[in-house]
Amino acid sequence: MARRMLIVGNWKMNGLLETARELADGIVAGVSARAVGCEVVLAPPATALHLLQQRLGGSAVKLAGQDLSEHECGAHTGEIGGIMLRNVGCWYVIVGHSERRADCGEDNDRVARKMAAAFRDGLQPIVCVGETLEERDQGRALEVVGAQLAVLYPRLPKRPSLVVAYEPVWAIGTGRNASPEQIQEVHGFIRQDLCARLGEDGRKIRIVYGGSVKPGNAQAIFALEDVDGGLIGGASLKSADFLAIIDAVPEKF
Ligand code: 13P
Repeated sequence: MARRMLIVGNWKMNGLLETARELADGIVAGVSARAVGCEVVLAPPATALHLLQQRLGGSAVKLAGQDLSEHECGAHTGEIGGIMLRNVGCWYVIVGHSERRADCGEDNDRVARKMAAAFRDGLQPIVCVGETLEERDQGRALEVVGAQLAVLYPRLPKRPSLVVAYEPVWAIGTGRNASPEQIQEVHGFIRQDLCARLGEDGRKIRIVYGGSVKPGNAQAIFALEDVDGGLIGGASLKSADFLAIIDAVPEKF
């Protein structure tokens, strides 16, 4: 099954306009100079989305929001709706990142509602799943990820253009790496679960990995059978590192 590899840079709460412009321009120049076979997406903070829409325009690099409201519009102070994200050129939106689950109390049901809102508003959701260190140490990693996936199925449209991001919480921003075996075990489990619930459509859904992906470990991670790309945090804030990670993407077709 040909799934196009996907590399997403999640800038999190980093990037004033000046640095955002420099970083975006460096990435666009690097991507344009290469024959990049994978899909490249940047998720800057909301304040830089409009700037990036202008800087990415005409390039192969696409734009994503880091979060969206489950509501369409109206009296929701501080929230940003999917239609607004589309309006500034987003194709994708990250949903249920573990930092939002932890910082903003987003539970599985809320994440599922946000995913449904993304589909409703014409965006492709990148839904994050992953266990904490405590849950892994208790041997519950697959159970936790299974529960995070289970709430999504009733809200999926037919033939969903969904991306699942497996991000073990203990490997995010810690420099602590999940081993290739640990990553493949969970990605294989997610693939099986998707196929059991969605049949052939489950094979088309991309499963990307996130958690301390760096130029030095990207190749080994991307070579894994059920890894279809990466969700990159810290290393997406330096264009040289992000481009080196893009260079590590194999042709899997
Ligand atoms: P790091 O690459 O900094 O570990 O962050 C991963 C992540 O959370 C991407 O969404």
